[in-house]
Amino acid sequence: MRPGRVDQPRDGEAFLPPGFFDAFPSLERDRERLGPVLHRTDTPLFLVDTRILAERYREVERALARRSARSAIAYSFKTNYAVAESRLLGELGAWAEVVSGREYRLARGLGHPGEEIVFNGPHKRDDELLLALTEGALIHVNDREELERVLELRMAHHGRARVGLRVKADLPGVEPSRFGLSLEDGEAAAAVARMLSVPGLAPAGLHLHLRGDTDDPGHFRKAARRVARLLAHGGPEGGRLRVRSLDLGGGFPAHGPRPRSRRTWDPRPIGEYVDAITGELSPALAHEDGPTLILEPGRYLVADAIVFVSTVLRARRSGNGQLVTVDGTVTMLPLTHYCPQIARLFTSDLLPRRDSSLPSTVLGSSCRENDVLYSGPLPPAVRGDFLVFYAAGAYNSSLSPEFIFDAPPVLFA
Ligand SMILES: Cc1ncc(COP(=O)(O)O)c(C=O)c1O
Repeated sequence: MRPGRVDQPRDGEAFLPPGFFDAFPSLERDRERLGPVLHRTDTPLFLVDTRILAERYREVERALARRSARSAIAYSFKTNYAVAESRLLGELGAWAEVVSGREYRLARGLGHPGEEIVFNGPHKRDDELLLALTEGALIHVNDREELERVLELRMAHHGRARVGLRVKADLPGVEPSRFGLSLEDGEAAAAVARMLSVPGLAPAGLHLHLRGDTDDPGHFRKAARRVARLLAHGGPEGGRLRVRSLDLGGGFPAHGPRPRSRRTWDPRPIGEYVDAITGELSPALAHEDGPTLILEPGRYLVADAIVFVSTVLRARRSGNGQLVTVDGTVTMLPLTHYCPQIARLFTSDLLPRRDSSLPSTVLGSSCRENDVLYSGPLPPAVRGDFLVFYAAGAYNSSLSPEFIFDAPPVLFA
């Protein structure tokens, strides 16, 4: 599906293009499949449409297969731990992308072999690095200090260690990143040279992750071009640098509405981002013994497939609108501050309410005055209705604390 341009001036006053909801679970059409799972436990809950989850994975896989002989998709665990724990993406072939020792151990516990774990992040303890080195994980070193520590640890253990470097590119129109070694000021090239100075060692791979929700494929193209430049001239004596993997990160937008921080928002089909990346890296990728291209998406894989389902506890008229209280809270959807919610009202039989809408404010059930989940149009609500929030799969569940209530369960259908 080609995502459309979504302009959304204020919460709820969304201009949602025709077909917008096609990207998300359809409680009405798939009632027979989703309904029994939804009714299995009390709301609030997250409901995963596993078909959409698998489809997003296959979209990335197809886009990569068109352009790169060797590729891997490493699911960024922190985006939604329940999805990682379900093993669904792992069964489709996904590797694990982890950013802490805790996540690394989770990945191992779920059955990912070291070779299929990408270990990123700015804080890795020595014992965690040593374990990853021993188990042959792909470690992306974040900075010079970490590189020296890894080199020291590696002396003790050569094993199957794969050590790559996280690099960053300063791109016009993109906020600079605090992570990785700069490609512009020679820091990345110096780290490559440092590794090459160790007998028998070379960087196993390069890694570059732009910020989340980078909607302009041009940014990926420019970032990949800078990586290609390092590959072309960063090797021994200014020659070609050979690596076993190139990881261009995640950050690909899913099909949700415009983040509040953006004035323009034009997410493209995933293939356009992959083409932008592979187009620049093709000389390296086309090589017979060229590197594996790794992508490590989070939100693209999980954001669309998961809805947050709450139940209406109270609804009362207020002025010309209504105040609706649900059994969820804004702490269960912490990304409400990042992106306005898209909400729809259903009867308890999962039929959408289609009556004409009223200006509505949806309040959460915590004791905080500012627990507001949504403000915008909704049909008149009735106690017992389901209020469903879309595009809820990325980061909400993993960032949701046990605040006042239990954290909502994540159910798979
Ligand atoms: C290193 C790294 N890789 C991948 C991701 C996943 O990003 P996204 O969910 O935007 O695809 C993140 C998220 O912050 C990240 O920091």
